[in-house]
Amino acid sequence: MGKHLLLPLIILSSLLGFLQALTCLKCDRVNTSGVCQSGASFCQTKGSQQCYVRKVYEDDTISYGSQGCSSICTDMLLFSPNVAVDLKCCDDSPLCNKF
Ligand SMILES: *[C@@H]1O[C@H](CO)[C@@H](O)[C@H](O)[C@H]1NC(C)=O
Repeated sequence: MGKHLLLPLIILSSLLGFLQALTCLKCDRVNTSGVCQSGASFCQTKGSQQCYVRKVYEDDTISYGSQGCSSICTDMLLFSPNVAVDLKCCDDSPLCNKF
């Protein structure tokens, strides 16, 4: 393949990747065993959304979690006195936001 074709191809494939919706696991509440206890379904990312998995820790032990699609997706840990939230995002494969 000619070099002059390679760059447009890379640009095109990354553009398609961006536009392509990704299927994510969705769950309102995941218990500490990783079992979805309410609101289990799937969601499709739109635009710049990614799959996320959020884990909430209380007093250093995991308390519960949730999963879904979100455009607010910076990895973060928020601390209030005894609570930490661990938010992780991914967009590399479908259903990548396993608990
Ligand atoms: C999580 O939910 C599953 C199914 O309801 C249950 O079997 C399991 O014991 C639960 N785990 C905890 C830690 O509550």
